[in-house]
Amino acid sequence: MLFNLVILVSLFLVGIAPVSCEVDHAFIYNGFQSQNLSLDGIAEFTPDGLLLLTDSETQDQGHAFYPNPIHFKNSTNGTVVSFSTTFVFAIRSDYGILSGHGLVFVIAPQRRIQGALAYHYLGLFNSTNNGDRSNRVVGVELDTIYSEEFGDINANHVGIDINGLRSVAVETAGYFDNTGLFHNLTLISGQPMQVWVDYDGSTKQINVTVAPLHVEKPVSPLLSLKTDLSPILDQTMYVGFSSSTGSVPTYHYILGWSFKTNGKAQELSQLPNLPRLGRKGTSRFVKIGLPLLSLVLLVVATSMVVYYVRRKKYEELLEDWEREYRPQRFMYKDLYTATKGFREKELLGAGGFGKVYKGVMPITNLEIAVKKISHESRQGMKEFVSEIVIIGRLQHRNVVPLLGYCRRKGELLLVYEYMSGGSLDKYLYNKPRFTLDWSQRFRVIRGVASGLFFLHEECDHVVVHRDIKASNVLLDGELNGRLGDFGLARLYSHGTDPQSTRVVGTLGYLAPEHTRTGRSTPSSDVFSFGAFLLEVACGRRPIEPRQDDDDLILVDWVFSCWNRGNILEAVDLNVGIDFVPGEVEMVLKLGLLCSHSKPSYRPTMRQVLLFLDGVVALPELSSLGISAAGLTFDHHGGFDDFVTSYSSSINAHSRSPSVTDSFLSGGR
Ligand SMILES: *[C@@H]1O[C@H](CO)[C@@H](O)[C@H](O)[C@H]1NC(C)=O
Ligand SMILES: *[C@@H]1O[C@H](CO)[C@@H](O)[C@H](O)[C@H]1NC(C)=O
Ligand SMILES: *[C@@H]1O[C@H](CO)[C@@H](O)[C@H](O)[C@H]1NC(C)=O
Ligand SMILES: *[C@@H]1O[C@H](CO)[C@@H](O)[C@H](O)[C@H]1NC(C)=O
Ligand SMILES: *[C@@H]1O[C@H](CO)[C@@H](O)[C@H](O)[C@H]1NC(C)=O
Ligand SMILES: *[C@@H]1O[C@H](CO)[C@@H](O)[C@H](O)[C@H]1NC(C)=O
Repeated sequence: MLFNLVILVSLFLVGIAPVSCEVDHAFIYNGFQSQNLSLDGIAEFTPDGLLLLTDSETQDQGHAFYPNPIHFKNSTNGTVVSFSTTFVFAIRSDYGILSGHGLVFVIAPQRRIQGALAYHYLGLFNSTNNGDRSNRVVGVELDTIYSEEFGDINANHVGIDINGLRSVAVETAGYFDNTGLFHNLTLISGQPMQVWVDYDGSTKQINVTVAPLHVEKPVSPLLSLKTDLSPILDQTMYVGFSSSTGSVPTYHYILGWSFKTNGKAQELSQLPNLPRLGRKGTSRFVKIGLPLLSLVLLVVATSMVVYYVRRKKYEELLEDWEREYRPQRFMYKDLYTATKGFREKELLGAGGFGKVYKGVMPITNLEIAVKKISHESRQGMKEFVSEIVIIGRLQHRNVVPLLGYCRRKGELLLVYEYMSGGSLDKYLYNKPRFTLDWSQRFRVIRGVASGLFFLHEECDHVVVHRDIKASNVLLDGELNGRLGDFGLARLYSHGTDPQSTRVVGTLGYLAPEHTRTGRSTPSSDVFSFGAFLLEVACGRRPIEPRQDDDDLILVDWVFSCWNRGNILEAVDLNVGIDFVPGEVEMVLKLGLLCSHSKPSYRPTMRQVLLFLDGVVALPELSSLGISAAGLTFDHHGGFDDFVTSYSSSINAHSRSPSVTDSFLSGGR
């Protein structure tokens, strides 16, 4: 370890001149192992024997003063005597080129500097006393921050300060070599540098010189100021250092210091070593790097968790075969945003297949209805999606536009255009808030018939709807009936129709042959359409449960009315009085006809349209031999003889079974 010593050379002329006590002061600190300085603030000695004015952890100030007063003036004539000092310093920051604020060699009236501020005040003054003549302070600043307030020239300068921080002489840090060439020095380089401050009492000149350690003292000083310090300094003064840090905590080190009045300060030697930059790097890593690294890791981990949660949240299922359906694919994220995260408030309805949410697409602002269908099995999914795509391509004014789909694990989402009118059943029963008059109902019937005819006969493939009923007919803003929900799910509130079955359709609308074979055909759609006609005209469900277990079978009831010769008795009173009786009668009779238990007796949708439009008159029911038995729903079960008529109906159609068929049977 270094041999540090303080040499205090004192010449006491005791006894010779008791009145005038002339003292030439000289001291030298080759390192600060002796710890014989007056410290305050955050200044401290390091175990290595360095004077650390400020460390890299605190934003504060630190001072270190030689403990004894120095006689600066010749007591005989009161002028400041010559003095000389030299010290070695180093400024190190953990943030590379950022540091602050610097250090000052100070000649001050007290050992303690009180009321001073850190930051750019360098621990020397405060905003009120800066520049005040009564301060009686002379300093040499090594300033590493540009402070406009004090007229700094840059963030790397050396200046002579008298009573304030606005330097009376200032230069960019550097030195002139023997050839007179100027070399810049970077004060915050972390490298040790030496400073010499020399005052000539007779010429009243103060010189400041800086050079890298181990470079001989340059002949030409960096600063040379002619100023008489006599009016500024007191008889006795204290010498020391002041330093402060700001937002970039910085290490301000003093490695050694010597001072002498009336002579040249002794050369420094055997100075302690600064912490090696590598070793400091380690401690810096532990002190700052480690917390910083853990912070970074935490941020990375958090963002990864967020990323995975988001990915999980928006995760979709996309298989190779779906690539061609890209235009029909919706991003789950968009649907999630559109429905505000499938909020309960956006729920339009819930049924056996899943829930339907209202949404507004981002950017386009298109109003949509998103049906969420839980679907665990992948079986049949390919056929199903191709069906969706086909349906999606169908464009008919009486078919709810299916915009596309999205697939997730165990979940399928269908995106429809939003129909502002909601489902038709809301206008028919369950104490409707609004009812439709006859002309509105007839328009809906006509529309649904037209939509169904389109599905059955005008598309490339026969599309069997499978689930025609009032709740699957949606009304657009102009109360046009539009067929929605192609046998997939229901669009209305949970519980309003508990009879709905998951796969085959809805009891009460199911053709007997359909229930028995499980296969749907255009003819079974016509059967459902018949139930729908009666439903709309009578404002009742096909099967109305009753307390006494004797459920009202709508078709039976309408038939009995007809049988009694007054079919109009069945009409919903809510249709008003303003209607064409013949039209109502025709719709009711058509409803009965379509409800024939024998498929071959049912009209096709083409024929239905001709009847509805009055192009062809509806044949008399009695001539068709319709009987109560023939109209009965299959709610009793067992009508074996219909199997044959079912297949003949298919043949009569001379069309291949629909894709929907194949899907739904496969998808089960
Ligand atoms: C420390 O300073 C005091 C004067 O304040 C002096 O008497 C003492 O000798 C010094 N000690 C060392 C080790 O230099
Ligand atoms: C102080 O000043 C007087 C008168 O000018 C001079 O004689 C004396 O030598 C000076 N003392 C020192 C220590 O310079
Ligand atoms: C400024 O410093 C002076 C001298 O130490 C002190 O008296 C004064 O209270 C300080 N002012 C403020 C605002 O701190
Ligand atoms: C020294 O520094 C000053 C100010 O930063 C700059 O203008 C000058 O070009 C530098 N000189 C050299 C030799 O680097
Ligand atoms: C200050 O520097 C000048 C040269 O610039 C020199 O002549 C003078 O002697 C120096 N004074 C001291 C006290 O070093
Ligand atoms: C005081 O004495 C010093 C010598 O110690 C001399 O250089 C200086 O000029 C004198 N000052 C006055 C005002 O006489």
